[in-house]
Amino acid sequence: MSAQTRTSLAVALMGASGRMGREVLALLPGNAGFTLSGAGCSPEGGLLGQPVSLLQKGLPDVYFEGDPAKVLSGASVAIDFSLPSATAGHLDACRERGVPLLLCATGHDASQLEAIRELSKTVPVLLAANTSLGVTLLNRLVEIAAATLGEQFDAEISEIHHRNKRDLPSGTALKLGEAVARGRKAELAELAENRIPGTSQLRSPGSIGFSAVRAGDVVGEHTVMFASDGERLELVHKVSKRSTFARGALKAAQWLANQPPGLYEMSDVLGLN
Ligand SMILES: NC(=O)c1ccc[n+]([C@@H]2O[C@H](COP(=O)([O-])OP(=O)(O)OC[C@H]3O[C@@H](n4cnc5c(N)ncnc54)[C@H](OP(=O)(O)O)[C@@H]3O)[C@@H](O)[C@H]2O)c1
Repeated sequence: MSAQTRTSLAVALMGASGRMGREVLALLPGNAGFTLSGAGCSPEGGLLGQPVSLLQKGLPDVYFEGDPAKVLSGASVAIDFSLPSATAGHLDACRERGVPLLLCATGHDASQLEAIRELSKTVPVLLAANTSLGVTLLNRLVEIAAATLGEQFDAEISEIHHRNKRDLPSGTALKLGEAVARGRKAELAELAENRIPGTSQLRSPGSIGFSAVRAGDVVGEHTVMFASDGERLELVHKVSKRSTFARGALKAAQWLANQPPGLYEMSDVLGLN
Protein backbone atom coordinates (compact mmCIF):
# COMPACT_ATOMS: atom_id res chain seq x y z
CA MET A 1 0.00 0.00 0.00
CA SER A 2 1.43 3.42 -0.86
CA ALA A 3 2.22 5.48 2.22
CA GLN A 4 0.30 8.51 1.04
CA THR A 5 -1.45 9.48 -2.16
CA ARG A 6 -2.24 13.09 -3.00
CA THR A 7 -5.66 12.83 -1.39
CA SER A 8 -5.34 10.05 1.15
CA LEU A 9 -3.29 9.95 4.35
CA ALA A 10 -2.19 6.48 5.48
CA VAL A 11 -3.09 6.16 9.17
CA ALA A 12 -1.79 3.58 11.65
CA LEU A 13 -4.28 3.40 14.50
CA MET A 14 -2.90 2.19 17.85
CA GLY A 15 -5.56 1.04 20.29
CA ALA A 16 -7.88 0.36 17.34
CA SER A 17 -9.79 -2.29 19.29
CA GLY A 18 -10.68 0.03 22.19
CA ARG A 19 -13.63 2.37 22.71
CA MET A 20 -11.92 5.32 21.04
CA GLY A 21 -10.19 3.26 18.36
CA ARG A 22 -13.57 1.96 17.22
CA GLU A 23 -14.88 5.53 16.96
CA VAL A 24 -11.98 6.42 14.65
CA LEU A 25 -12.53 3.27 12.57
CA ALA A 26 -16.19 4.23 12.15
CA LEU A 27 -15.22 7.54 10.51
CA LEU A 28 -12.89 6.02 7.90
CA PRO A 29 -15.08 4.17 5.37
CA GLY A 30 -15.96 6.50 2.53
CA ASN A 31 -13.58 9.20 3.81
CA ALA A 32 -11.27 9.95 0.88
CA GLY A 33 -8.86 11.87 3.11
CA PHE A 34 -7.64 8.80 5.01
CA THR A 35 -6.64 5.19 4.42
CA LEU A 36 -6.19 2.75 7.29
CA SER A 37 -2.73 1.20 6.93
CA GLY A 38 -2.43 -0.54 10.33
CA ALA A 39 -4.49 -1.36 13.43
CA GLY A 40 -2.88 -1.97 16.82
CA CYS A 41 -4.15 -3.83 19.85
CA SER A 42 -2.41 -5.29 22.90
CA PRO A 43 -0.05 -8.24 22.23
CA GLU A 44 -2.48 -10.53 24.05
CA GLY A 45 -5.60 -8.76 22.74
CA GLY A 46 -8.77 -10.70 22.01
CA LEU A 47 -8.88 -9.31 18.46
CA LEU A 48 -5.21 -10.04 17.64
CA GLY A 49 -4.96 -11.39 14.08
CA GLN A 50 -8.59 -10.62 13.29
CA PRO A 51 -9.58 -8.34 10.36
CA VAL A 52 -10.72 -4.81 11.27
CA SER A 53 -13.80 -5.48 9.11
CA LEU A 54 -15.07 -7.50 12.09
CA LEU A 55 -15.69 -4.15 13.80
CA GLN A 56 -16.32 -1.90 10.84
CA LYS A 57 -17.41 -2.70 7.27
CA GLY A 58 -15.91 -0.84 4.32
CA LEU A 59 -12.28 -0.83 5.53
CA PRO A 60 -9.25 -2.20 3.65
CA ASP A 61 -7.75 -5.64 4.44
CA VAL A 62 -6.02 -4.72 7.70
CA TYR A 63 -5.55 -7.12 10.62
CA PHE A 64 -5.19 -6.35 14.33
CA GLU A 65 -1.51 -6.45 15.19
CA GLY A 66 0.32 -6.44 18.53
CA ASP A 67 3.79 -5.45 17.26
CA PRO A 68 3.88 -1.63 16.97
CA ALA A 69 6.59 -1.68 14.28
CA LYS A 70 4.32 -3.79 12.07
CA VAL A 71 1.32 -1.56 12.80
CA LEU A 72 3.35 1.39 11.47
CA SER A 73 4.30 -0.29 8.21
CA GLY A 74 3.28 2.00 5.31
CA ALA A 75 1.93 4.69 7.63
CA SER A 76 2.26 8.45 7.13
CA VAL A 77 0.96 9.21 10.61
CA ALA A 78 0.11 7.26 13.78
CA ILE A 79 -2.94 7.98 15.93
CA ASP A 80 -2.52 6.45 19.39
CA PHE A 81 -5.68 5.80 21.41
CA SER A 82 -4.10 2.99 23.46
CA LEU A 83 -3.02 3.24 27.11
CA PRO A 84 0.10 4.79 28.73
CA SER A 85 1.47 1.32 29.44
CA ALA A 86 1.87 0.90 25.65
CA THR A 87 3.47 4.30 25.03
CA ALA A 88 7.16 3.33 25.40
CA GLY A 89 6.90 0.70 22.65
CA HIS A 90 4.97 3.08 20.42
CA LEU A 91 7.58 5.84 20.86
CA ASP A 92 10.37 3.41 19.89
CA ALA A 93 8.49 2.25 16.81
CA CYS A 94 7.73 5.81 15.67
CA ARG A 95 11.40 6.76 16.14
CA GLU A 96 12.61 3.76 14.12
CA ARG A 97 10.09 4.30 11.32
CA GLY A 98 10.14 8.12 11.39
CA VAL A 99 6.33 8.24 11.65
CA PRO A 100 4.65 11.36 13.14
CA LEU A 101 2.72 10.50 16.32
CA LEU A 102 -0.60 11.90 17.49
CA LEU A 103 -0.62 10.71 21.09
CA CYS A 104 -4.16 10.72 22.44
CA ALA A 105 -3.70 8.29 25.34
CA THR A 106 -3.71 10.05 28.73
CA GLY A 107 -2.24 9.47 32.18
CA HIS A 108 1.50 9.58 31.42
CA ASP A 109 3.95 9.96 34.30
CA ALA A 110 6.91 12.35 34.36
CA SER A 111 9.40 9.88 32.85
CA GLN A 112 6.99 8.98 30.04
CA LEU A 113 6.46 12.68 29.31
CA GLU A 114 10.24 13.10 29.14
CA ALA A 115 10.48 10.23 26.62
CA ILE A 116 7.71 11.87 24.55
CA ARG A 117 9.64 15.17 24.54
CA GLU A 118 12.78 13.28 23.47
CA LEU A 119 11.00 11.67 20.51
CA SER A 120 9.71 15.08 19.38
CA LYS A 121 13.30 16.12 18.64
CA THR A 122 13.34 13.74 15.69
CA VAL A 123 9.70 13.28 14.62
CA PRO A 124 6.58 15.47 14.89
CA VAL A 125 4.61 14.59 18.06
CA LEU A 126 1.24 16.03 19.04
CA LEU A 127 0.33 15.37 22.66
CA ALA A 128 -3.44 15.68 22.78
CA ALA A 129 -5.12 14.90 26.08
CA ASN A 130 -8.38 15.99 24.46
CA THR A 131 -8.89 16.25 20.71
CA SER A 132 -12.25 18.04 20.90
CA LEU A 133 -12.19 21.47 19.35
CA GLY A 134 -14.31 22.87 22.20
CA VAL A 135 -11.80 21.88 24.90
CA THR A 136 -8.94 23.25 22.83
CA LEU A 137 -10.66 26.62 22.80
CA LEU A 138 -11.65 26.23 26.48
CA ASN A 139 -7.97 26.03 27.43
CA ARG A 140 -7.38 29.44 25.92
CA LEU A 141 -10.52 30.94 27.51
CA VAL A 142 -9.44 29.59 30.91
CA GLU A 143 -6.00 31.14 30.57
CA ILE A 144 -7.55 34.52 29.77
CA ALA A 145 -10.00 34.22 32.70
CA ALA A 146 -7.23 33.28 35.13
CA ALA A 147 -5.04 36.17 34.00
CA THR A 148 -7.91 38.65 34.18
CA LEU A 149 -9.48 37.59 37.48
CA GLY A 150 -6.28 37.01 39.43
CA GLU A 151 -5.66 35.03 42.58
CA GLN A 152 -8.50 36.52 44.60
CA PHE A 153 -10.72 34.14 42.59
CA ASP A 154 -10.36 30.53 43.76
CA ALA A 155 -9.89 28.20 40.80
CA GLU A 156 -11.46 24.73 40.94
CA ILE A 157 -11.46 22.17 38.14
CA SER A 158 -14.07 19.44 38.35
CA GLU A 159 -14.70 16.60 35.95
CA ILE A 160 -17.03 13.66 35.42
CA HIS A 161 -16.16 10.57 33.36
CA HIS A 162 -17.52 7.07 32.79
CA ARG A 163 -16.81 4.31 35.28
CA ASN A 164 -14.10 2.72 33.06
CA LYS A 165 -11.77 5.72 32.93
CA ARG A 166 -8.49 4.84 34.62
CA ASP A 167 -6.54 8.08 35.09
CA LEU A 168 -7.60 10.66 37.70
CA PRO A 169 -7.56 13.64 37.43
CA SER A 170 -8.21 13.38 33.68
CA GLY A 171 -5.51 14.51 31.26
CA THR A 172 -7.87 17.30 30.21
CA ALA A 173 -8.31 18.48 33.81
CA LEU A 174 -4.54 18.68 34.22
CA LYS A 175 -4.21 20.67 30.97
CA LEU A 176 -6.92 23.05 32.22
CA GLY A 177 -4.96 23.37 35.46
CA GLU A 178 -1.88 24.27 33.43
CA ALA A 179 -3.96 26.90 31.61
CA VAL A 180 -4.99 28.47 34.94
CA ALA A 181 -1.36 28.42 36.11
CA ARG A 182 -0.16 29.96 32.83
CA GLY A 183 -2.72 32.74 33.23
CA ARG A 184 -1.26 33.39 36.69
CA LYS A 185 2.30 33.19 35.37
CA ALA A 186 3.11 30.16 37.52
CA GLU A 187 3.64 26.40 37.19
CA LEU A 188 0.79 24.00 37.97
CA ALA A 189 3.02 22.09 40.39
CA GLU A 190 3.33 25.24 42.52
CA LEU A 191 -0.43 25.88 42.72
CA ALA A 192 -2.14 22.46 42.50
CA GLU A 193 -3.70 21.46 45.79
CA ASN A 194 -5.14 18.13 46.81
CA ARG A 195 -7.22 18.66 49.91
CA ILE A 196 -7.35 15.66 52.17
CA PRO A 197 -10.83 14.44 53.21
CA GLY A 198 -11.29 14.32 56.96
CA THR A 199 -8.84 17.11 57.73
CA SER A 200 -9.79 20.66 58.68
CA GLN A 201 -7.23 22.16 56.32
CA LEU A 202 -8.48 25.36 54.60
CA ARG A 203 -7.96 26.15 50.96
CA SER A 204 -4.65 27.94 50.34
CA PRO A 205 -5.02 31.34 48.66
CA GLY A 206 -4.24 31.12 44.93
CA SER A 207 -4.37 27.33 44.85
CA ILE A 208 -5.89 25.31 42.00
CA GLY A 209 -8.20 22.54 43.27
CA PHE A 210 -9.23 19.36 41.46
CA SER A 211 -12.25 17.14 41.99
CA ALA A 212 -13.45 14.14 39.99
CA VAL A 213 -16.39 11.76 39.68
CA ARG A 214 -16.26 8.38 37.91
CA ALA A 215 -19.76 7.06 37.21
CA GLY A 216 -22.00 5.56 34.57
CA ASP A 217 -21.40 6.21 30.89
CA VAL A 218 -20.53 9.93 31.01
CA VAL A 219 -18.27 10.59 28.00
CA GLY A 220 -16.59 13.63 29.53
CA GLU A 221 -17.52 16.85 31.33
CA HIS A 222 -15.16 19.53 32.65
CA THR A 223 -15.99 22.66 34.62
CA VAL A 224 -13.51 25.37 35.53
CA MET A 225 -14.86 27.54 38.31
CA PHE A 226 -13.47 30.91 39.36
CA ALA A 227 -15.11 31.95 42.63
CA SER A 228 -14.62 35.06 44.75
CA ASP A 229 -16.67 36.79 47.45
CA GLY A 230 -19.90 37.69 45.68
CA GLU A 231 -19.51 36.21 42.20
CA ARG A 232 -18.64 33.00 40.41
CA LEU A 233 -17.68 32.30 36.81
CA GLU A 234 -18.01 28.77 35.42
CA LEU A 235 -16.67 27.63 32.07
CA VAL A 236 -18.19 24.26 31.18
CA HIS A 237 -17.55 21.74 28.42
CA LYS A 238 -19.61 18.59 27.88
CA VAL A 239 -19.07 15.83 25.36
CA SER A 240 -22.06 13.65 24.55
CA LYS A 241 -20.50 11.55 21.78
CA ARG A 242 -17.05 9.89 21.61
CA SER A 243 -17.02 10.56 17.85
CA THR A 244 -16.27 14.20 18.80
CA PHE A 245 -12.77 13.10 19.90
CA ALA A 246 -12.35 10.90 16.83
CA ARG A 247 -13.23 13.70 14.41
CA GLY A 248 -10.80 16.05 16.18
CA ALA A 249 -8.10 13.37 16.03
CA LEU A 250 -8.44 13.01 12.25
CA LYS A 251 -8.21 16.78 11.81
CA ALA A 252 -5.11 16.85 14.03
CA ALA A 253 -3.50 13.89 12.23
CA GLN A 254 -3.94 15.60 8.86
CA TRP A 255 -2.25 18.71 10.25
CA LEU A 256 0.56 16.84 12.02
CA ALA A 257 1.59 14.83 8.96
CA ASN A 258 2.84 18.04 7.34
CA GLN A 259 4.82 19.45 10.29
CA PRO A 260 8.57 19.35 10.99
CA PRO A 261 9.80 17.52 14.13
CA GLY A 262 8.60 19.20 17.33
CA LEU A 263 6.22 18.85 20.25
CA TYR A 264 2.79 20.22 19.40
CA GLU A 265 -0.59 20.57 21.07
CA MET A 266 -4.15 20.91 19.82
CA SER A 267 -3.98 24.70 20.04
CA ASP A 268 -1.34 24.57 17.28
CA VAL A 269 -3.81 22.70 15.06
CA LEU A 270 -6.39 25.45 15.55
CA GLY A 271 -3.80 28.20 15.05
CA LEU A 272 -4.41 29.56 18.57
CA ASN A 273 -0.70 29.94 19.35
N1 LIG B 1 -7.30 12.53 23.50
C1 LIG B 1 -8.62 12.41 23.62
O1 LIG B 1 -9.40 13.23 23.12
C2 LIG B 1 -9.17 11.23 24.36
C3 LIG B 1 -10.55 10.98 24.39
C4 LIG B 1 -10.99 9.82 25.05
C5 LIG B 1 -10.07 8.96 25.63
N2 LIG B 1 -8.74 9.26 25.60
C6 LIG B 1 -7.73 8.36 26.13
O2 LIG B 1 -7.50 7.38 25.13
C7 LIG B 1 -7.07 6.18 25.78
C8 LIG B 1 -7.96 5.01 25.31
O3 LIG B 1 -9.26 5.20 25.80
P1 LIG B 1 -10.38 4.08 25.55
O4 LIG B 1 -11.57 4.51 26.31
O5 LIG B 1 -10.52 3.81 24.08
O6 LIG B 1 -9.68 2.80 26.28
P2 LIG B 1 -9.95 1.26 26.04
O7 LIG B 1 -11.32 1.03 25.52
O8 LIG B 1 -9.53 0.59 27.30
O9 LIG B 1 -8.93 0.85 24.85
C9 LIG B 1 -7.56 0.71 25.09
C10 LIG B 1 -6.89 0.26 23.81
O10 LIG B 1 -5.48 0.16 24.05
C11 LIG B 1 -5.03 -1.14 23.68
N3 LIG B 1 -3.92 -1.55 24.52
C12 LIG B 1 -3.94 -1.83 25.85
N4 LIG B 1 -2.72 -2.23 26.27
C13 LIG B 1 -1.92 -2.21 25.18
C14 LIG B 1 -0.54 -2.54 24.94
N5 LIG B 1 0.26 -2.95 25.93
N6 LIG B 1 -0.06 -2.42 23.68
C15 LIG B 1 -0.86 -2.00 22.67
N7 LIG B 1 -2.16 -1.68 22.81
C16 LIG B 1 -2.68 -1.79 24.06
C17 LIG B 1 -6.24 -2.01 23.85
O11 LIG B 1 -6.07 -3.25 23.12
P3 LIG B 1 -6.88 -4.59 23.53
O12 LIG B 1 -8.29 -4.35 23.10
O13 LIG B 1 -6.20 -5.65 22.77
O14 LIG B 1 -6.74 -4.71 25.04
C18 LIG B 1 -7.33 -1.11 23.30
O15 LIG B 1 -7.31 -1.13 21.89
C19 LIG B 1 -7.14 6.44 27.30
O16 LIG B 1 -5.87 6.81 27.74
C20 LIG B 1 -8.11 7.62 27.38
O17 LIG B 1 -7.91 8.38 28.55
C21 LIG B 1 -8.28 10.36 24.96
